[in-house]
Amino acid sequence: MAGKAIRFGVVGLGMGEHHCVAINNARGATLAAVCDKHTGRLAERVKKFGVTGYDNYDDLLRDPDIDVISIVTESGVHADMGIAAAKAGKHIVMEKPVDIAPTRINKLEKAVAAAGVKCGCIFQSRMNPLNIALKKAIEKGKMGRVIGIHGALPWFRGQEYFSGPFGPWRGTWAMDGGGSMMNQGIHTIDLLTFLAGPVKRVCGFYDVFDHDIEAEDHAVACLQFANGALGTVFTTTCARPGGPQAIYGFGSKGSFRKEGDVLVHFEMGGKTERTRMMEKFGGKQVDGGASKDAMAVAADGHTLIMEDMVRAIRQNREPAIPLSQARHAVEIVCAVYKAAGTGRTIEVARVAGARG
Ligand SMILES: NC(=O)c1ccc[n+]([C@@H]2O[C@H](COP(=O)([O-])OP(=O)(O)OC[C@H]3O[C@@H](n4cnc5c(N)ncnc54)[C@H](O)[C@@H]3O)[C@@H](O)[C@H]2O)c1
Repeated sequence: MAGKAIRFGVVGLGMGEHHCVAINNARGATLAAVCDKHTGRLAERVKKFGVTGYDNYDDLLRDPDIDVISIVTESGVHADMGIAAAKAGKHIVMEKPVDIAPTRINKLEKAVAAAGVKCGCIFQSRMNPLNIALKKAIEKGKMGRVIGIHGALPWFRGQEYFSGPFGPWRGTWAMDGGGSMMNQGIHTIDLLTFLAGPVKRVCGFYDVFDHDIEAEDHAVACLQFANGALGTVFTTTCARPGGPQAIYGFGSKGSFRKEGDVLVHFEMGGKTERTRMMEKFGGKQVDGGASKDAMAVAADGHTLIMEDMVRAIRQNREPAIPLSQARHAVEIVCAVYKAAGTGRTIEVARVAGARG
């Protein structure tokens, strides 16, 4: 990737450490600075990556040598920190969820547009070759009319994940925006929409069963997609010892099933295509560990997203996962919580709020 390297600063150095690694691995990108108000974490990362450290976000934003701010702080402050970055003229890479409140996402969208900066979002599943191949097959009509698309996330998190030194914001409504569905499950919900398009209406249930937290640790939802397909999703952090995400899809001409990154079943297109897909994506499940450990997330998807941000800036185009797409999963989760709280079916567009 020719041209001057695009310089990144990362704020929030828990999962943010993965961002630092991903930026270092990304062609055309350079990690220039890190920032965390927790001075112990900051000092460790400054030493590890050999870059400038800031314990104050405003100082990071004032650094004229930074082109992009990667925001990896608690989910409830994402939009506010993004708005500050946009006002400082910085491009943004935003961790999932974009924020937990659609009204704040609306404000972020306006700030990004007003500043003329890019905002690319993290949903690393969208960079996964199997998910991309399934999306292409569905879009080409190989599954026929999409009838059903279903997701399961049987993950486990111990109480220490919530009670440890960086745990208190997790599983709270104010900072995590919910529990297993907003935090862990949002990737699964985004993937269902990546494959089958936007969701129109939802109903659902949630409760807290096995953790001392405010929000839910198990949620279930029924989804009606804009194209008429029906779906279900369950998310939990209670399923000992934690297993891979599973997705089922079927339509008028075929079906698929995947577990984690492995294609279990693919009945679409001709025999050659089925064999090719199974040879490429079938096989033995290798559990990357994220089902049990929040930090066991592979950096590859993040690296591709950083490289995409570099190209988006150079080519002056939208990032691959723009705010306009990443926000939908948040809207769906908020609609499920609202549906469960009211016992009614909720139109997702009503939760999204006026964007005008
Ligand atoms: N893409 C993924 O698979 C994935 C995986 C894990 C976490 N995440 C997301 O990453 C985000 C962070 O999660 P985490 O587990 O790393 O949380 P964490 O609590 O471990 O880390 C957040 C860090 O941000 C710092 N921080 C907060 N506000 C700050 C400010 N104003 N200035 C400087 N530093 C500030 C805190 O001190 C803390 O060190 C969340 O939004 C979470 O959903 C994504």
